[in-house]
Amino acid sequence: MIENRMRELINLINKAAYEYYTLDKPSIPDQEYDRYAQELQQLEIKYPEFIQEDSPTNRVGGKVIDEFNKVTHDIPMLSLGNVFNESEIVAFDERVRKEINNPIYVAELKIDGLAVSLTYKAGKLVRGATRGDGVTGEDITHNVKTIKSIPLVLSENIDIEVRGEIYMSKASFNLLNEERIKKGEEAFANPRNAAAGSVRQLDSKIAASRKLDCFIYHLPNALDYDIHSHFKVLKFMKKLGFNVNSNIEKVNIKELLNYIEQWTNNRETLAYEIDGIVIKLDNIDDQIKLGYTAKYPKWAVAYKFPATEVLTKLKDIVFTVGRTGQVTPNAVLEPVRVAGSIISRATLHNEEYVVSKGIKIGDIVTIYKAGDVIPEVSRVIEDRRTGDEIDFKMTNNCPICNSNLVKKEEEAAYYCVNPKCPAKKIEGLIHYASRDAMNIEGFGDRIIEDFYNMGYLKDFKDFYNLNNYKEELMEIEGFGEKSINNLLDSINNSKNNSLERLLFAIGIRHVGSKTAKILAKEYKNIEVLMIASEEELTNVRDIGSIIAKSIVNFFNYNKEMIIELKSLGVNTKYLGKDTLTNPLFYAKTFVLTGSLETITRDQATSMIEDLGGIVTGSVSSKTDVVLVGENPGSKYDKAAQLNIPIWNEQTFLKNVKE
Ligand code: IVH
Repeated sequence: MIENRMRELINLINKAAYEYYTLDKPSIPDQEYDRYAQELQQLEIKYPEFIQEDSPTNRVGGKVIDEFNKVTHDIPMLSLGNVFNESEIVAFDERVRKEINNPIYVAELKIDGLAVSLTYKAGKLVRGATRGDGVTGEDITHNVKTIKSIPLVLSENIDIEVRGEIYMSKASFNLLNEERIKKGEEAFANPRNAAAGSVRQLDSKIAASRKLDCFIYHLPNALDYDIHSHFKVLKFMKKLGFNVNSNIEKVNIKELLNYIEQWTNNRETLAYEIDGIVIKLDNIDDQIKLGYTAKYPKWAVAYKFPATEVLTKLKDIVFTVGRTGQVTPNAVLEPVRVAGSIISRATLHNEEYVVSKGIKIGDIVTIYKAGDVIPEVSRVIEDRRTGDEIDFKMTNNCPICNSNLVKKEEEAAYYCVNPKCPAKKIEGLIHYASRDAMNIEGFGDRIIEDFYNMGYLKDFKDFYNLNNYKEELMEIEGFGEKSINNLLDSINNSKNNSLERLLFAIGIRHVGSKTAKILAKEYKNIEVLMIASEEELTNVRDIGSIIAKSIVNFFNYNKEMIIELKSLGVNTKYLGKDTLTNPLFYAKTFVLTGSLETITRDQATSMIEDLGGIVTGSVSSKTDVVLVGENPGSKYDKAAQLNIPIWNEQTFLKNVKE
C-alpha cells in the first residue's frame, strides 16, 4: 500500500518536473508539486526500505562521496575535429562526398559545457560519467541526479546509454557569480568552468544548488534501436524524456552555411553559451561507412566560432581617467587575437577587481570575450608564475593632473575631483562628439585631444566656434580645406539633433542614452527639464532618486553652459514624433537585414525606436516587420517563410514620415 503510494508520488513528480524543466510547459501548480514532494519525503523518512532509485528526492542532493570512481566507456567518448571557416567546412563536405552521394547533414548548436554519458537500465538512471580522457571518465552519478532536466526515469523501460552536454545558463551563471563575489569568493571565469566545477564536487548539495542543465545529442548504439537517421535519433531521445535542443536542422551544404551564418549572428539571443556548430552526417549507415580517424569521427565536425578565451601575458597595469573622473586600472597585454580581433588592452575595472582576481604584473592571464562584450581579464594562471611578478598597487594620484584621488563611500572606484583635470575634459569632449551622443562625424579621439592641447577646444561650446579658426586649422599637419569643411559641416549638422542626444552628450552622471530618451520625451524642452525638482523627476517612468539627484545637481552648476549652447544654435527641443501617432511603428517589433543605402542601420534603429518600435536580432513569429537592404541574410528567407511583412528602404522612409 505505502509502497504503491510512493511509486505514484514519484511518477507524478517526475512527470511534472519533465513538463516544467524539459518541455517548459508546467501542468500543475507549484503548490501541488510541493505537496507531493513533501508527502514523498515524509514517507521516505518513515520507510527508508521503500526508497526508489528514481525518486526525485535524489535531486536535492545530500549524497557525499569520498572520491570519484573511475568509469570505463565501452564505446570511447570521442570529441570532434574542428574547422574554423567556410572553406574548411566545404573541404569536410568534399571529403564526405568522395564516399557518399548527396550527403544530408544535421546541424546542431555546439553547447559550451562538458560532455556527459548517462546510462539507464530498464528505463532508470543508474550512472552519469564524465568524458575524462575518452576511455576512462569519472562517476558523477550523485551530481547528475540533481540536474532537473536529466530524467531519472524514461518513458520506456529500456537499457540505453546516451551522451550530451551539461551546461549552465547565462542567467544562472551571472547570479552565481554575483553571490560568490558578495561572499568574497572568486568568480567563475565562464559558464563552462562553473558547470565543470559544479559536477566535480564530492558533495552533491553543491551541484544541486548550482542550477545546471543538460542537452542530449548523441546515441552511440543507434542501430541497436533500429534507427538509421541521426535526426530520428534526436526525436527518439526527445520521446524518451531527454532534453533535446530544438534548434536542430536537417540541411544540405548550402542550407548548412545559412544555418551557421544565422547562429553566428544570433548566438547572443540564446539563454546559454554556444561555442560553435556541430555538423553530423544524418544517415547512420553512412556514418559507419565513413568510420573514424585515430581521434575523431569522419562523419562529423565542429565548426568553432572564433576563440573567446585565450592566454597572454599581462605586461603592465596603467591608469586612465574617464570623463566622470574615475581612475581605472587597465591591463597592458602582449597582443592576442580573441574572438576575431587583436587586443592589447583590457579594463581591470577597479582596485577590488584586481585584488579579488589576485592579478600581478607579469602574470599569464586568460582573456575572455563573451559575444559583443568587451574582453576581460578573467583568470590568473598561477602555475605559470616565475616569482618575478610584481604586486599591484592602486595609485593615489591622478595619472594626468597628479591631484590626490578621492574614494567615494560605498563605491569601489577612486576619482580625480579636480574640475580642471585635462583628462576628464578630453574624455568629456570625446563623449560629446561620439556617435551615440551628438554624432559629430570625423572627430576621432586623437583630433579632439590635439585640438584640446592646441587650445581650440576646451568646452562643448568651442565646437561651435571652430569655424572662426578655419584658416588656422587648415594649417595643421594632416588637415586640408576639404577635411576641415567636412568637420565644420558635421558640427553644424549636429545642431539639429533632437534633445535626447544633447542630454546624453553633456555627461550628466547616471544618464545614459536610454534615460536621456525618456527625459527628452517627457520634458520635450531642456528649459523645462532644467527647473524640474527631484520629486517631479522621480515621478517619471524609470527615473529613481539617484538619477533625479544627479540631474538636479548637474543643472545647478551648468545652466550657463546650456544657455550658451542654445545661443550658438544648438537645438534643445525634442524632435521625435509623438509615438502614439504612428501606428506603423508604435510597439511593433522590427528586424533589420542587409545593408541600407541612404541611412545606416544605426540610424534606422534610432528612427524606429523614436517612433516607439523595438528592434531585435532574429526573425520569429513575434516579428512584425523585416526591413531589408542590399544582400540580405537568411533572415529575409525566414521572414518570407513566416509571411512577415517585408519593407525595403524606400517603404521604410515613406512610413517614417506618415
Ligand atoms: S557530438 C561522436 N553534439 O563538443 C559525437 N558534441 O568538440 C560526439 N558538444 O565532446 C559529440 N554540443 O562535449 C556533439 N550538439 C553537440 C555538441 C557537442 C557540444 C561538445 C561535446 C564534444 C565536443 C567536441
